[in-house]
Amino acid sequence: MFRIDRNLTADDLDKALRSDVAAGLTARPKQLPPKWFYDERGSALFEEITALPEYYPTRAERAILELRADEIADAADAEALIELGSGSGIKTRLLLDAMRRHGRLTRFVPVDVSGDFLAASAAQLADDYPRVDVHAVVGDFEHHLGLLPVGENGGRQLLAVLGSTIGNQEPGPRAAFLRDIRAALATGDSLLLGADLVKDPDRLVAAYDDAQGVTAAFNRNVLSVINQRLGADFDPAAFDHVARWDAGCEWIEMRLRARGDQHVRVADLGLEVGFAAGEEMRTEISAKFRREGLSAELGAAGFELTHWWTDPAGDFALTLATAR
Ligand code: SAH
Ligand code: AVI
Repeated sequence: MFRIDRNLTADDLDKALRSDVAAGLTARPKQLPPKWFYDERGSALFEEITALPEYYPTRAERAILELRADEIADAADAEALIELGSGSGIKTRLLLDAMRRHGRLTRFVPVDVSGDFLAASAAQLADDYPRVDVHAVVGDFEHHLGLLPVGENGGRQLLAVLGSTIGNQEPGPRAAFLRDIRAALATGDSLLLGADLVKDPDRLVAAYDDAQGVTAAFNRNVLSVINQRLGADFDPAAFDHVARWDAGCEWIEMRLRARGDQHVRVADLGLEVGFAAGEEMRTEISAKFRREGLSAELGAAGFELTHWWTDPAGDFALTLATAR
């Protein structure tokens, strides 16, 4: 069974994009939220990133899931899997397979802002798991968690946020996000969180500035999204991709740096914006975690961390926590 709900229509998406772009391009320093990377091309570029030699997180998380999916299914003992920022759902299949083996799985709720990409990946999953009720939701997980079809059957839930997507939020919004997740769950439900770990800065920077330039194309894609959706005239080629490790905040910061003075018009907003040569606009943070910090963040949101698994190299952690 397959259905898709749209908490975000094309119109809502446009409204949210307009308000983020108007605020971000008039802020000092300028910045844009990372959710706008993901139109169809951005989602495809992210999939390319996951196969790059420098980008270890997806491989590391998959390796952990391959070893631990059955343990996760046993510990969570859930009827439904809800996944926020599900993307292609490739790693999700490992979890669905284990939950099916465990014998309780009836429902899968993938949630993503990238509507067409979600529709295609969820329809494929529904075909491949014919006994599972696949209920996809196009939505913004920072705003729409209260609208999710969670807990409708009264059964136990496992909510997953894989790929270290949690790291793309700053600490304040991340704490609110974890509290919202907790509020959407019942006591005894589980949260499975993928978290990239602090490591050698050279490896981290390489993972976000690959030799083939795929991450650079992903970063510049946000400008193409604004051109297409809001009638802007950014020249993406006139911006350099920048990836920097912030040792104080323990996050990678991606920015776009103007190659020369630029004048950009965003027609649909009636907005004219200047960039000075060398001016940098932040487009993403990707926070890296340590066990103590993440455990405390989960605790503050009403979860108790019960499992912490890493890949053999200790690059990435998958954590399971119970809603208290
Ligand atoms: N979980 C997958 C994909 C990670 S990429 C993996 O581990 O490989 C991040 C995903 O989150 C993308 O599919 C993107 O479209 C989605 N996303 C980003 N911000 C979002 C938001 N605010 N609401 C819903 N989905 C979001
Ligand atoms: C989705 N998210 C966890 C990715 C990350 O690593 O922060 C997005 C990404 N940005 C550049 N490369 C990958």
